[in-house]
Amino acid sequence: MYYTIVGTQWGDEGKGKIVDWLSSNADLIVRYQGGNNAGHTIKVDKKVYKLNLLPSGIINNKKCAIGNGVVLDPWALIKEIDNLKENGIIVDHTNLFLADNICLILPIHKSLDQINEKLRGQKELGTTKKGIGPAYEDKVGRRAIRICDLKYPKLLKQKIDNLHAYHHEKLIKYNVNIEDYYEELLDMSEYLYKFSVPLWKIINNLDKFKKVVFEGAQGSMLDIDFGTYPYVTSSNTISGQIFSGTGFSNRNNHKILGITKAYTTRVGSGPFPTELIDNIGEYLGEKGQEFGTVTKRKRRCGWFDSVLLKQSIKLNGITDIVLTKLDVLDELKEINICIGYDIEGKIYDYLPSEEFLFDKIKPIYKTVDGWQTSTAGINSFKDLPNKAIKYINKLEELMETKVSIVSTGPDRKETIDINGILLNI
Ligand code: GDP
Ligand code: IMO
Ligand code: MG
Repeated sequence: MYYTIVGTQWGDEGKGKIVDWLSSNADLIVRYQGGNNAGHTIKVDKKVYKLNLLPSGIINNKKCAIGNGVVLDPWALIKEIDNLKENGIIVDHTNLFLADNICLILPIHKSLDQINEKLRGQKELGTTKKGIGPAYEDKVGRRAIRICDLKYPKLLKQKIDNLHAYHHEKLIKYNVNIEDYYEELLDMSEYLYKFSVPLWKIINNLDKFKKVVFEGAQGSMLDIDFGTYPYVTSSNTISGQIFSGTGFSNRNNHKILGITKAYTTRVGSGPFPTELIDNIGEYLGEKGQEFGTVTKRKRRCGWFDSVLLKQSIKLNGITDIVLTKLDVLDELKEINICIGYDIEGKIYDYLPSEEFLFDKIKPIYKTVDGWQTSTAGINSFKDLPNKAIKYINKLEELMETKVSIVSTGPDRKETIDINGILLNI
């Protein structure tokens, strides 16, 4: 059985927690897009782990892989591996595979990310400044340096020189000086190269890898094609990306789990129809501890948006919803759910593509009762308060998709597996 984990909103839905929980029964956990712009938090018995690049299965000591759809910062990867080692988790060539055709994020990409954001002025995207966009641009521009190049020092030097020559004018214009990192990269290259494999070949060995979890980063509304463009990341974040981002080609026996917060958050700029710029928004931020894992920025908070969810469900082919952070709503007397958009008097049941319409969206709400009792840590569906069950049922009705897992806290154990997914994996 194969499981794809995708964020259905704007990221930070709790993907890391769910991947960790699912991975206890998995043979392989694979990242297929994004890079260290992701911040996935896992809590196991009071210990908190924060991962950016490594698949969350690593905490369970499972075999993990990073696919070619990811852009990989070698410095960030080594730092992450070292951090885990300090926490007693060993990452080596037996439990981590890197696709040999992964494109690298180099120091120049981080500088370009900064310059590009400055150039956008008022319209800055609020990127994580990890060099993600510029690295994908170089990939598509066919100038990128890939892991397989690390084996050949002369070729590597030539490719780095080429890359710098391409961006030279811009760097000079904005007075950015990048220290020579060739020797440093060369020093790391042998170590990194040892992780590399033709992942497409390995991952299609269905006899060996029977239970695979594909771990998405970001969220569907940050997808380069289907998200709130241009306020998006630079990769395809939807489930279709698992095939081109890893080379996996089996279309059968696949569940697509849409990780969904019981409300909505967004970090960085861009449209957010149900955003709450009031006490309730502040409350959700406080109670949900909504601060970015990567940039520590305050996340913007708002009501659940079923219009957006229906769109995500269609785009990803979601089979099951995993509803996270239900406990954050515990104290609210009333809860709003967005059921449609009013844009200049016209009702929309989807988010239109035109950027100039984004600011004109007026959400249409349905109000339901809150349950005003604690759900924190509940791990059996029957123990949930009736009004919380009603809220979940209402969301299911609006999304036309079943909620199979409910999360009531950050810890692995604080999870309700309504449909026995963990048992079946
Ligand atoms: P990801 O990027 O989708 O993996 O999500 P993040 O890790 O960036 O953000 C989710 C945050 O919510 C983390 O701090 C998690 O520990 C926390 N979290 C996950 N599930 C729950 C839950 O059900 N309840 C609460 N209160 N916190 C949760
Ligand atoms: P996880 O995997 C939330 C957002 C940034 C910015 C936009 C573009 O933890 O859910 P980028 O650096 O990718 O060019 O930034 O995308 N963003 C995320 N927001 N969660 C993430 O990842 C994100 N990764 C990128 O804030 O608005
Ligand atoms: Mg995150």
